[in-house]
Amino acid sequence: MRTVAPILAFTLAFLVFFVGVGMYVDRISGTKQAVTGGDIVVGPEAGKDLFWGKGTCSNCHKVGSQGSNTRCPDLGDIGRRAAARAVEVNKKRQAEGKTADYNGNRYLIESVADPRAYVVEGYQPIMPKVYETVPLNRKEILSILSYLQLEGGEEDLDGLLKYQELIPEAKPGKRNEWGDAANGKKLFHDTKSNAGCIRCHKIEGRGEAAIGPDLTGIGGVQTSGYLLESIIEPSKVIVAGYDQFVLKDTDERVFAGQLYRASDAKKWNPSERVAFGEWVKDGDSVYFMDSENRKSDPIAKDDIEDIERGPIQQPLSMMPGDFLQKLDKQEILDLVAYLLSQK
Ligand code: HEC
Ligand code: HEC
Repeated sequence: MRTVAPILAFTLAFLVFFVGVGMYVDRISGTKQAVTGGDIVVGPEAGKDLFWGKGTCSNCHKVGSQGSNTRCPDLGDIGRRAAARAVEVNKKRQAEGKTADYNGNRYLIESVADPRAYVVEGYQPIMPKVYETVPLNRKEILSILSYLQLEGGEEDLDGLLKYQELIPEAKPGKRNEWGDAANGKKLFHDTKSNAGCIRCHKIEGRGEAAIGPDLTGIGGVQTSGYLLESIIEPSKVIVAGYDQFVLKDTDERVFAGQLYRASDAKKWNPSERVAFGEWVKDGDSVYFMDSENRKSDPIAKDDIEDIERGPIQQPLSMMPGDFLQKLDKQEILDLVAYLLSQK
């Protein structure tokens, strides 16, 4: 007995190992075949096109020096950062008594499959489920992620494939039967109407102001529910890079609005994690833009009352919160219909 037991255990372990490996190989090669057949060859090349085109990612994200959107995290370096985020997620899971088995691949998959699962600090949970909004299928999402892995890391499609089951099947959400998009367009662009959204937002290449985000293409990336909420309750989610700040100068004058650096007209955005005292260079000044697009007097760095503390972020959006009073219900639905038509 004493000699048989270890041998049996060893044989069993051996068997389990081989069956396990066999299943694993089957799974990988099987899925690989499945994902390379059909319409696209899964990989970074297809992913790059999708990221900057149909996938709508570039409507919100930039990648290092490519693209210009600030409302969402810069994905330059995400190939490296994903692994660091996974370490963070594991710590949290351990503290909650859950299995800590995250790695960079799983983090990447989950950031698209379930964007609310981990919300990057300093940003709002506004990332849409792209398998509903565009909609993108698994192959397309895997391609985009393999492209992003190259940003600061190495491509690891096999690693991503292990988690592909976490990506829901593409399903087009229910779309636009909201209202009259043509009327919404009129309201949006007419500065004399009670809407007059164009006073703050660019769209379709029109509009001057940059107080609010450029809404070109917003219908391709956001759901009707999000758009409706943005109009009737703008302070609920304040898009990163568009917050309002308050700052005092040494004469006790109070300034409010969006804050710019005078030397290069760059907007202050705390999500970029630079200390305010370093962001404003010595000898430089700042100025504010208010919700009417008016520029304040310049405030020299030396005249800022508390440079260490810097500007104080306000919980209120600069977008007016009274559209529910100023517009009737149908007009609001027409505006949503117009925004949804922007793809
Ligand atoms: C409407 C804007 C929007 C769109 C469109 C969008 N994202 Fe995001 N994304 C965000 C925001 C905001 C965050 C940060 C908050 C969060 O973590 O949910 C984010 C976070 C991420 C992260 C995690 C970043 C980090 O630093 O950990 C990844 C990866 C990502 N997005 C990939 C994509 C990809 C790929 C697409 C296109 C298929 C896409 N996003 C489309 C808004 C968007
Ligand atoms: C006084 C300026 C101002 C006016 C007028 C204004 N907005 Fe905004 N809007 C903003 C600002 C600032 C933000 C970003 C802060 C936030 O999220 O609340 C924003 C955000 C939004 C967003 C979310 C965009 C995103 O990237 O997620 C939508 C949608 C929107 N506005 C639609 C409208 C519509 C429709 C109207 C007209 C009925 C309108 N806005 C009028 C300033 C304005």
